[in-house]
Amino acid sequence: MKDNIIFEADNLEALKELINMGLEEKIDVIPIDPPYNTNIDYINYIDSFEGDSFISFMNMRIELAYKLLSPNGVMFIHIDDNEVFNLNILCKKIFGIENVKLIIWKKNEEIFDFNKKEYKKVHNINVIHEYVIVCFKNFNSTNLNYIKQLKLDNSGKLIESYAPLTSILEFLGSNFSAKEELYEIFDGKEVFRTPKPVKLIKEFIRSASSKNSLVLDFFAGSGTTGQACMELNKEDNGNRKFILVNNIENNICKTVLIPRINKVIEKFGFNETFRFISLY
Ligand SMILES: C[S@@+](CC[C@H](N)C(=O)[O-])C[C@H]1O[C@@H](n2cnc3c(N)ncnc32)[C@H](O)[C@@H]1O
Repeated sequence: MKDNIIFEADNLEALKELINMGLEEKIDVIPIDPPYNTNIDYINYIDSFEGDSFISFMNMRIELAYKLLSPNGVMFIHIDDNEVFNLNILCKKIFGIENVKLIIWKKNEEIFDFNKKEYKKVHNINVIHEYVIVCFKNFNSTNLNYIKQLKLDNSGKLIESYAPLTSILEFLGSNFSAKEELYEIFDGKEVFRTPKPVKLIKEFIRSASSKNSLVLDFFAGSGTTGQACMELNKEDNGNRKFILVNNIENNICKTVLIPRINKVIEKFGFNETFRFISLY
C-alpha cells in the first residue's frame, strides 16, 4: 500500500472493502477502541446497544479483522468492565483460547485532594483501570518487541527504559492526558470526549510492528492511532502506513479526525499524506 487511508464508512463495509482491495493477511497491527456499551451519552457517538446486540456487532467485525491480520499480526481491543467478559469469550472463539491475553491499563490516577493533601476517600469502588484484550493470529510464533515505558527503579525514581509489555500497564498516559493532548491540538476546544493517549497506542504499535507494517484502526474516533503511527515513523525512520475508519456519526471524520491528522502533520513537520475514501 503506497499511502495512508482515511475511510468515512461503517466499519463493516470498510473491512469488506479492504478484503476486496487484496489486504487479506496483510495487516500487522489492529489497535481498536470500540464503544464500550456503557449507556453513557458521550455526545460524539452512541454508546448503547439493545440486548446482546453489542456482541453480535463486534462478532461480525472481529471475524473480518481476523481475516485481515497477517500471520504474525496482533489486535489490541480496549474495553471496560461492562463487556470485558463477553468480549473476551468472543475473541477466544474467533482466535482460539491460546491466542488471547488480557492486559489491565491504569486509565486514571487515584483522586488526590490537593487541599487536604491526601487521597480522597470514596465509599464505593473508585475504578481506575480498564482492559486491553490482546489477540494474536499465532501466539507461539509471535515475538513482541520491547516497548518504551517509565518504570520505578530500586530507589523509587521513575526512569524510562525498554522492556517487555507487562500485564498491568501504567505511566503510559491516562484518560486525562489524552484529553489534554487533544485540547492542545484544537486550541483548547473539546472536540471529542473519549480519546486514548498517543503514548499508549504508540507502544502497542511499537510492540507488534516492524518499520514497514500496516496498521488498521476501524474505530478511529479522533485519530490517535494515525498520530501514534506517524510519531513512531519519525522516531525510528519507519514507513508504517495507517488505515483509519470512522462512520459518519456527528461528522467525526470531517470535523475531528481529518483536521487532527492535518494539524499534527503540520505541527510536527511529518512527511506523510493520506487518501480519503467515503463509502456513503
Ligand atoms: C471510543 S471511540 C474511539 C476513540 C479513539 N480511540 C481515539 O483515541 O480518539 C469509538 C469511535 O468508533 C466510532 N464508531 C462506532 N461505531 C462505528 C461503526 N460501525 N463504524 C465506524 N465507526 C464506528 C464512533 O463514532 C467513535 O468515534
